[in-house]
Amino acid sequence: MSFSCHISGFGHAVPERIVTNQELSEMIDTSDEWIVERTGISQRHIASDEDSSATLGAEAAKRALEKAGVSAVDLDLIITATCTPSGMFPSTASRIQHSIGANCGAFDINAACNGFVTALSTASQLIHSRSAEKILVIGSEVLSRITDWSDRGTCILFGDGAGAVIIERNEGSETGQIFPPVLGSDGGAAELLFASGPCTAPSDLLDQEAKIIMDGRSVFKYAVTAMAEAVEEALKKANLKAEDIDICIPHQANKRIIKALMDRLGLPIERAFVNVQKYGNTSSASIPIALSEALEEKRLKSGNTVLFVAFGGGLNWGAMIANWG
Ligand code: ACO
Repeated sequence: MSFSCHISGFGHAVPERIVTNQELSEMIDTSDEWIVERTGISQRHIASDEDSSATLGAEAAKRALEKAGVSAVDLDLIITATCTPSGMFPSTASRIQHSIGANCGAFDINAACNGFVTALSTASQLIHSRSAEKILVIGSEVLSRITDWSDRGTCILFGDGAGAVIIERNEGSETGQIFPPVLGSDGGAAELLFASGPCTAPSDLLDQEAKIIMDGRSVFKYAVTAMAEAVEEALKKANLKAEDIDICIPHQANKRIIKALMDRLGLPIERAFVNVQKYGNTSSASIPIALSEALEEKRLKSGNTVLFVAFGGGLNWGAMIANWG
């Protein structure tokens, strides 16, 4: 059964400063050639001292509201997906609420790189249950603040940015449906990818420093299998086949992961929207940024079946299919 809701507005915002692979190779032992070959990434945007997940998220939100023709005061809820919040509390969502002039409820979701799919799933369920009519969903990150810039295995991967969508109830239209999502998690494999925080207990096995620690090779393998299985389940729930997917907007972690996923699904890589070369891995911001660009470039059109799929720290993963209105 499909949900009666659709995405009516979108927007993204990234910091001005671009750090190229060449620049990184002057800081650590790496090369543009290695990074492009292993990840597909050429550059990333890095936050200034003034940027935060709240400021970038607010900018993306304003653009999405404008596109949807929705006023901030008409929002019923704001959900921000972030694993790099502007503080322990208030939430990044509450900071954004104040900044854009909304007066609705606001909360954050942390599912690492799967944050946006989780937030969009939550929003679609709230709309489906008639608890809300218009929800602002944001993915916003400043991963550069938790990146270990001396670790060449991770620092080449991440970037900062935000993307936002407005999701609204859709009354009786044939297109513009969001199908039931699939979410998964394996907290038992947390040590493969994590960042500790200021509240981590001294007895916890996790590292004290709030920096990303990752076993890249294991994460790679886990990600491809978990995402492929989640997509298969989401297709079943939507009563669709892989070939029905017109465009896949995956989490932008690594071009090779995206290629491996598309191969597993039996779909050509051309059906995936890839912009990891410009932004690197922006965690929960990567899908809404990619969605915003896919719409701007008219790669995603009315009537298309679109797949959102993500994987990240937790470990966490999710897949969601929509018929684009
Ligand atoms: N430049 C040059 N050489 C490097 C670099 C670098 N930046 N990084 C690692 N190497 C070296 C290693 O030291 C190793 O050398 P050795 O063979 O002499 O020991 C060699 O390259 C191969 O290293 P691997 O780690 O095995 O390289 P791999 O092909 O696996 O690529 C990468 C590494 C890009 C990190 C890949 O494993 C990956 O993308 N993993 C998944 C990351 C991901 O998707 N994370 C999930 C989301 S993040 C989130 O949730 C916040």
